Amino acid sequence: MKIGIGNDHSAVEMKQEISKYLQSKGYEIVNYGTDSTDSYPYPTAALNVAHAVVENKVDCGILICGTGIGIGIAANKVKGIRCATCSEPYSAKLSKMHNNSNILSFGARVVGVELAKMIVDSWLEAEFEGGRHAQRVQMIQDIENDETFMNK
Ligand code: RB5
Repeated sequence: MKIGIGNDHSAVEMKQEISKYLQSKGYEIVNYGTDSTDSYPYPTAALNVAHAVVENKVDCGILICGTGIGIGIAANKVKGIRCATCSEPYSAKLSKMHNNSNILSFGARVVGVELAKMIVDSWLEAEFEGGRHAQRVQMIQDIENDETFMNK
């Protein structure tokens, strides 16, 4: 599996730790983030990873900034992206099972590296359940396409 990873200046070390960890587990990592601690805007990293995901250059994405929030909000502006900002493994797992999230974001200033590894593992190992959840995800896509769904 090929994972696009992106980060701002606040998450360089976390990005490097998580990349190393995932590579050691056999995942292929494509780095779309910064490796410098000079100020770097999180929307740039979000946009690069989000585009790689919707263009199928990678299978999914991981985004890390200080809180995981700004980078997640930015990613969710890209059509086709369902980015879940998670600080614990349960939400990460459910975001894949129920919401078919295609990007995970978290905060390097919020979680430590060991918890981040657990969050990432839960997310990557979970599978979308489909069924009734597929209908709801479709409704999200309808919102993107500006279609009415009020009576579905
Ligand atoms: C950068 O200082 C910080 O604002 C950013 O990493 C992130 O937390 C934004 O949501």
